[in-house]
Amino acid sequence: MGSNKGVGLVFLGLVVGFFGVGRAQLSATFYDTTCPNVISIVRNVVQQAAQSDARIGASLIRLHFHDCFVDGCDGSLLLDSTSTIDSEKDAFPNQASARGFPVVDDIKTALESQCSGVVSCADILAIASEVAVVLAGGPEWSVLLGRRDGTTANRAGANSNLPGPRDGLSNITRMFSNQGLDTTDVVALSGAHTFGRAQCQFFNDRLYNFNSTGAQDSSMDSAYVTSLRGSCTNSTDDTTLFDLDPTTADGFDNNYYTNLQSNRGLLQSDQELFSIDGATVPIVQSFASSQSTFFDSFVNSIIKMGNISPLTGTSGEIRSNCRRVNGGQIQK
Ligand code: HEM
Ligand SMILES: *[C@@H]1O[C@H](CO)[C@@H](O)[C@H](O)[C@H]1NC(C)=O
Ligand SMILES: *[C@@H]1O[C@H](CO)[C@@H](O)[C@H](O)[C@H]1NC(C)=O
Ligand SMILES: *[C@@H]1O[C@H](CO)[C@@H](O)[C@H](O)[C@H]1NC(C)=O
Repeated sequence: MGSNKGVGLVFLGLVVGFFGVGRAQLSATFYDTTCPNVISIVRNVVQQAAQSDARIGASLIRLHFHDCFVDGCDGSLLLDSTSTIDSEKDAFPNQASARGFPVVDDIKTALESQCSGVVSCADILAIASEVAVVLAGGPEWSVLLGRRDGTTANRAGANSNLPGPRDGLSNITRMFSNQGLDTTDVVALSGAHTFGRAQCQFFNDRLYNFNSTGAQDSSMDSAYVTSLRGSCTNSTDDTTLFDLDPTTADGFDNNYYTNLQSNRGLLQSDQELFSIDGATVPIVQSFASSQSTFFDSFVNSIIKMGNISPLTGTSGEIRSNCRRVNGGQIQK
């Protein structure tokens, strides 16, 4: 009798384990019957956009990251402000920085015309990320799909959950760990800084007044400082862009890590992965010495990131316009 009860409890535990709240239930075949060409539709729009904006793929993967870290991968970042929505776009990590929203709109329009009401905005960001990495020469992976879109935004969450370039490695590691991501994930996902740009305001202090010393960050390669000063010509230049990976600006490769080894990380948060004595240093070394090791880890980590608290089943909705919840704010 006692043992029967034990078996029953174990069985209940398994059932709860399988169907428990927050458990990702995404699948690579989710749209196989409802929107079989979803990947190529997204790819075509991203490719088209890349012809006039070499940076767009990088911008799109960053949107996926900034979406997933705030209440899970639910497309919340894409909502515009209304009387009831405080858009995450106006949070500090996003304002005048997160970009690519019109291309997300174009992707949504293309999908609505072929499979109306089927593909979520959250999934668009996940697919666009994979497409962007592949177009830039990086690894491919099967994107897990089936996320639904949230109906709320969380600006305060965007302000507190998203790391800044001066947050310090221990704080950044904590922010990742709050999302269920470990130190290897921090290093692998930071490798997305192998493409795209950053504005001077995010690293200017390292050139002119690091840590209020009135001098450069002494950990930074001096030729690199000279070249950066050529672009960010003074300490109040906020918006000039510099390549996150100047060796292969638009390519997805492991040069991000070899740059760190030669003290050419652009952001303080980049360089700290290699300059603060700790668990991240050997991981940087392994990615720098083997691109395939980096690619394998990156794929593993971005899938993990994409699994952060998705809405599935009948939760949330499939937005028809990524900027607005369905039925909300009807225009007259
Ligand atoms: C580890 C902590 C991270 C910090 C502190 C950080 C910070 C930043 C900052 C400050 C920028 C420049 C934004 C601008 O100039 O407007 C940037 C750009 C970028 N970030 Fe991160 N980031 C981090 C992690 C990530 C992750 C996990 C990803 C994706 C998986 C990512 C992808 C990118 C990309 C691709 C760009 C270039 C975007 C563009 O050109 O539009 N970052 N990041
Ligand atoms: C880490 O975060 C805490 C709390 O916000 C802050 O006081 C501290 O200065 C941060 N450390 C670094 C290195 O940014
Ligand atoms: C910044 O300056 C403070 C005080 O001089 C020092 O304790 C700290 O280690 C410095 N931080 C860095 C990153 O150099
Ligand atoms: C700083 O640099 C920016 C961008 O190059 C320029 O527009 C601005 O005039 C400069 N400011 C000063 C004080 O030199």
